Amino acid sequence: MQYNDQANDAPLPSYRILVASSEAHPLVKTGGLGDVASSLPYALRDLGHDARLILPAYPGAKKLIREMRLVTELRMPGAIGPVQVLSGLLPDRDLPLYLVDAPAYFCREGNPYTDVSGRDWGDNPERFLLFSRVIALLAMGLPTLDWRPDVLHCNDWQTGLAPALIRDLPERPTTVFTIHNLAYQGLFDRGTFDRLGLPGALWSLSGIEFHHRMSFIKGGIVFSDRVNTVSPRYAGEVRTQRFGCGLDGLLRQLGGRFSGILNGIDYDTWNPATDLALPQNYDAEHVHLKAENKLELQTLFHLPRDEQVFVLGYVGRLVEQKGVDLIIDILPRLLETGRVQLVMQGSGERGLEQALEAAASAHSDRVSVYVGYDEARAHLIEAGSDAFLMPSRFEPCGLNQMYSLRYGTVPVVHKTGGLADTVIDADDGALADGTANGFLFDDPTADALWWALERTLRMHRERPDQWRQIILSGMRADLSWQASARRYIGFYGEAIASHEGLSAAVGA
Ligand code: ADP
Ligand code: GLC
Repeated sequence: MQYNDQANDAPLPSYRILVASSEAHPLVKTGGLGDVASSLPYALRDLGHDARLILPAYPGAKKLIREMRLVTELRMPGAIGPVQVLSGLLPDRDLPLYLVDAPAYFCREGNPYTDVSGRDWGDNPERFLLFSRVIALLAMGLPTLDWRPDVLHCNDWQTGLAPALIRDLPERPTTVFTIHNLAYQGLFDRGTFDRLGLPGALWSLSGIEFHHRMSFIKGGIVFSDRVNTVSPRYAGEVRTQRFGCGLDGLLRQLGGRFSGILNGIDYDTWNPATDLALPQNYDAEHVHLKAENKLELQTLFHLPRDEQVFVLGYVGRLVEQKGVDLIIDILPRLLETGRVQLVMQGSGERGLEQALEAAASAHSDRVSVYVGYDEARAHLIEAGSDAFLMPSRFEPCGLNQMYSLRYGTVPVVHKTGGLADTVIDADDGALADGTANGFLFDDPTADALWWALERTLRMHRERPDQWRQIILSGMRADLSWQASARRYIGFYGEAIASHEGLSAAVGA
């Protein structure tokens, strides 16, 4: 650890941090983890810390990184084919990164987790064990690399075994683990555990066994010095049976070792004033210019161009978590309501994709759906819609509602997780004190969503001044990574103190 000398202030520690993730924008991204994995380390660097990223060398990642170099070829007993560590920089910013280049595991078409038809790769346990083993090696220091982290920061189940693998090594770095979504745990059968050749001691209730299966995520939760999730509210929710996905008891046991830190959003990528994906840039002082984006959005989605029509937007994975079925349920009521269009983009469960496509073809002048993944379109939906729907049944943090706030697009969201932590309902009190920035509903039901939407449409129609106030309050909120990155620094500090305490106790 080094120290930054700051005039008039106590010296601030400067940490070396290795952030491990299975995806990172713009190299490879399937959801919010990809956004966080590149913007958090960058924000940490901005605060004077030496944060670096490690991820698998998917073909797209290798193609995009800058200044690629070979760090070392590793000897990994049992691994198929060569395993190399490469270094380089992200394409769009000076963030150092390491790629685990093991072609037998990561060089394939499809996304990090599934093949092109959406089926999980059958060897995911092998793939992410290999990734975790290399993370562990790098965390302990590679002979050819003059850099070792003070803190290893793992994210989600794909990296969960890394803290477990180094747990007993005396010189190990401090470990922290972030849960981005407790619903994805990396669960596999006992046969897989045996096949992977993991230390037998890990197969226990205080290890990675979970109801007779092996759990990657438990590795991260049980063996890290500190654990967090991505919003304070979700940190409370997952301690309950309703949201805990079977791990609520374990998370309750962690007590003060477990907390919630809200994500930020990347202010360079998501800025309506400079966004290159928009035909018309705008800011809080020029919100009227936003309408130009609505017209472009309508054109792109083959809807009638009309500035007066109220456009509702949705971008996200089409899965049960996101409450997309609730949107489908309220469609008849929405269609009865005159001047509203619905624009949706996402991919996921085939049944939901088909239901949405059917609705779009039955009401092609009102509903338009793009099944697929497209960054530029996502930006235009954020800018061109009047309101943004997120009826998620649970939402650890959620980034889209924050993008919406920044883009002056009013979020209509279920009061859960990070949605509840970022959206302030336009009730009388919040309207009076000027803090209202969206609309919340309490239960994940179609009726509750419809109730919130009716309030939204009524406010837009009948109280244009207040509507404008709601938009501005969202656009002026500070959603940047600055504050969140500072919280992570405090969190690392606590983890280091607890690890040092532990080492001292063991050494005593
Ligand atoms: P989650 O991580 O659960 O999917 P988040 O709201 O945290 O949800 O993040 C989702 C991220 O993925 C956002 O950046 C969103 O814009 C992006 N995204 C999701 N689906 C699509 C899509 N079909 N096209 C473009 N971007 C998408
Ligand atoms: C997960 C969550 C989402 C969160 C994202 C980034 O995918 O579902 O709520 O915003 O991770 O932390």
